[in-house]
Amino acid sequence: MDQKPIGVFDSGLGGLTAVRELKRLLPQEDIVYFGDTGRVPYGSRSKETILKYARQDVAFLRTFDLKAIVIACGTVSTTSLDVLSAENPIPILGVVEPAAAAAARRTRSGRVGLIGTQASIRSGAYEACIARERPGTQVVSQACPLFVPLVENGRFHRGDVVIETIVREYLSPLKGAGVDTLVLGCTHYPLLEEVIGDFMGPEVALINVGAECARAVARRLEADGALARRAAGTRRYFVSDRVEDFARLASIFLQEDVTGEARQIELEQEILNHRLGIRNHAQ
Ligand code: DGL
Repeated sequence: MDQKPIGVFDSGLGGLTAVRELKRLLPQEDIVYFGDTGRVPYGSRSKETILKYARQDVAFLRTFDLKAIVIACGTVSTTSLDVLSAENPIPILGVVEPAAAAAARRTRSGRVGLIGTQASIRSGAYEACIARERPGTQVVSQACPLFVPLVENGRFHRGDVVIETIVREYLSPLKGAGVDTLVLGCTHYPLLEEVIGDFMGPEVALINVGAECARAVARRLEADGALARRAAGTRRYFVSDRVEDFARLASIFLQEDVTGEARQIELEQEILNHRLGIRNHAQ
């Protein structure tokens, strides 16, 4: 048994797709979430910048005494998981392996579509992992750089002409290639599940990388004997820019009012305070 919280981070809202599933599977767990809304999107940046941001995100989360950190971000998972794991003494879990395993299990035709941010697609990490899970799988990939800014601005609903037009433009090649499984390789994309599902059609299985990752986290904590034991866990949300938009969209997505649980923090100041032993605003 381990009563410590689980830390979860993303560049913004997307990691909530993992939180939603964690909440469903492990309602007894305390969760501390950080969304770097002041610097989103990460996916258009270089590997070096993404690693720099991710190190700060992890350093902030580690100002709490955590049992594990979930990188609920495809971009950070595909580019920085190994370094972050090597640098930290607690388990750091990413989205790539669980998603690749799910895609390998689901595909019948062996033709899998993959969408993600530019950095994730450039990394080749999902492709390499799918090839290990199911040798010979053909992966057709497409970077979708406009999806994250649109989702962060709440433009993810069915009937929104902007998102529907962009979905058609990005996904037409994948539909044309006849994939039977599509990996939504960025944790923001499940918020587009309806629009993407409508376009791809019911015969294409969509893999939600945030939810797959949450299931892997649940299995890992159980295997390690590290599940918490209490009636109900708490969830706290921190962001690096104004709380209002995040709290509004998060409340809709998580179907609970998170307004009172969300706070804006000054990332570098919190990390510095912690190092100096000064009490943090976030604590
Ligand atoms: N949710 C992040 C991911 O999974 C979004 C990255 C971004 O900020 O561009 O890749």
